[in-house]
Amino acid sequence: MSGWEIFWDVVPYVTLAVVAVGTWWRYRYDKFGWTTRSSQLYESRLLRIASPMFHFGILVVFIGHVIGLFIPESWMDLVMSDHVYHLQAVILGGIAGVAALLGIALLIYRRRATGPVFMATTANDKTMYLVLVAAMVAGFACTAIGVTPEGAEHDYRQTVSPWFRSIWILQPRGDLMVQAPVYFHIHVIIALVLFCLWPFTRLVHVFSAPIGYLFRPYIVYRGRDVAEKSELVGSRPQRRGW
Ligand code: HEM
Repeated sequence: MSGWEIFWDVVPYVTLAVVAVGTWWRYRYDKFGWTTRSSQLYESRLLRIASPMFHFGILVVFIGHVIGLFIPESWMDLVMSDHVYHLQAVILGGIAGVAALLGIALLIYRRRATGPVFMATTANDKTMYLVLVAAMVAGFACTAIGVTPEGAEHDYRQTVSPWFRSIWILQPRGDLMVQAPVYFHIHVIIALVLFCLWPFTRLVHVFSAPIGYLFRPYIVYRGRDVAEKSELVGSRPQRRGW
């Protein structure tokens, strides 16, 4: 067994341990710092365009990862041909990938160009942005490299995907990952570094996205004018109008 194979067998578990313990620690010791540290108050014009562009793009990319990594190729073959799978991955994934990259480029530009937003940016944020962008660019390279009309140069659903699933069933298959081209290795290593940083950055907001907002009932606000005035303005009975 080569060292490289052992690396792919062991490092995902180290990453999972860092994420689990790190998230628990962050929640225990920094419950009130568990936030995006929104900068909307400082600038909202650019944010209004860039933030949804990035978030919708990355959400579609995330769904693409779940489908491509968790669903075995043999199952997918029952639903669509290889050609159709590849086409939708490149077209849908391409659009989502470009939206996410454009969105993050705009967000970073805004952070640099808007004085108060730049002032509120810490070294921790800068490191996180660097690793996030590197993971995205390397991922995009995996989609783009070696693409021909017939399909991709390398079928990651024979290497990266079964390796990914093997981690979760506690039977790691580093030997499969070793067979993937180097650009997949680079992408996944950067992703693992990002996962290790996750609990210690503003990215924790992903674990508490306010999804309930979409479904909660409206809040009804009532003025307190009438009740307050009645206390101040003597004993005249309160009626609407005169
Ligand atoms: C262990 C974790 C991960 C694995 C195994 C993985 C694997 C892959 C694979 C196989 C592709 C090529 C998909 C295709 O061509 O259809 C890809 C693309 C991509 N990945 Fe990852 N990835 C991981 C984590 C991440 C993370 C954390 C990010 C960003 C935050 C990310 C961002 C991207 C992007 C932007 C693309 C291009 C997809 C597109 O154009 O739609 N990945 N990834």
